[in-house]
Amino acid sequence: MLKYAPAVFAVEKNYQIMALVTAECLFWVKVGDKTYYDHSNGVLRSAENIHRVTLPMSELDGAGEYTVCIRPIIERKSYWSQTSDVIEKRFAFRPLPEGDFRAYHVSDAHNRIDGPIAAGKVFGDIDLLILNGDIVENSGNLEHFDTIYAIASALTGGSIPIVFSRGNHDTRGIYAEALERYCPTANGRSYYTFRMGSLWGIVLDCGEDKTDDHEEYGNTMACHGFRQEETEFIRSVVARASEEYAAEGVERRLVVIHRPFTLPCKPLYDIEKDTYGEWRRLVAEEIRPDVLIGGHFHRIEVIRPGDPSINGDHPCTIVLGGKPGSGPYTEAPWFAGCGYDFTSEGISVTFTDCEGKVLGTEKI
Ligand SMILES: [Fe+2]
Repeated sequence: MLKYAPAVFAVEKNYQIMALVTAECLFWVKVGDKTYYDHSNGVLRSAENIHRVTLPMSELDGAGEYTVCIRPIIERKSYWSQTSDVIEKRFAFRPLPEGDFRAYHVSDAHNRIDGPIAAGKVFGDIDLLILNGDIVENSGNLEHFDTIYAIASALTGGSIPIVFSRGNHDTRGIYAEALERYCPTANGRSYYTFRMGSLWGIVLDCGEDKTDDHEEYGNTMACHGFRQEETEFIRSVVARASEEYAAEGVERRLVVIHRPFTLPCKPLYDIEKDTYGEWRRLVAEEIRPDVLIGGHFHRIEVIRPGDPSINGDHPCTIVLGGKPGSGPYTEAPWFAGCGYDFTSEGISVTFTDCEGKVLGTEKI
């Protein structure tokens, strides 16, 4: 019934345990003596092939395991629905360690599954997976969402947390508006903060990469207003800093965003100067992260603020950590991603590819 292992996404101070299923079913998760149902105002969901429960991080962190419960639907009717026996599957769970930890970053898989998994395995054991946009080539087919869950399953086994951000290709296709059902969001928002132990992070989302009136979108985008709402959100995070990045116990701050908004690009993509300028200011002057974790440019590279070879007024060190082969995923399956070691001595990155090679290591 479970298509892959569940994915445990970190959103705010909750986990969203999400899973694709292969047949119509009801879904709930047991943690300790508590039960969390996938329901809509008391009605157990079965209409879609994706399920989700949301629970406080503290509950799962304390229990160290959870049990996924599935009851297959035989026939759902207005009266006397018929269902089968419950199938249970237990998963161990390891919260992010308080001290040193390791993470692997995948962006720009563009529907590649085997390549990102192989590249991640080269880096080895991890405590956190970061899926940072354009994991799907587009949202034109529901099966594309499998890419997210297949990679998550292979690299986490449902047993460690995942941070997810949306990319510009996720916004394309007839199921793009279904992202809030197929991916973790904060009440439908694709940008949010998260806190795991001493780690605080903010997931941001640039939306599309061109102006809303570009003919490629055929009048289907309203990302300008979306970004303005996001600016207000970032300001609100700054206004409550003492509960967010300046809260007691926070030792590391991350910005996770698919498209690092200060990197120079061709005029077609050079949009929202005022908005991105304000985001840069808020990140540089207020949030002051250890690193901005990005993708989008199909490069694996560390970019430091003030680096004279890279134009742009960057708010902090930026790491670009996702590089697919050049060409469609069917013809160019190669992929390289980025491993992170967060230690008391600092942060180091290791770029690995799907052929077993370490392409570079750098301290940041
Ligand atoms: Fe992108």
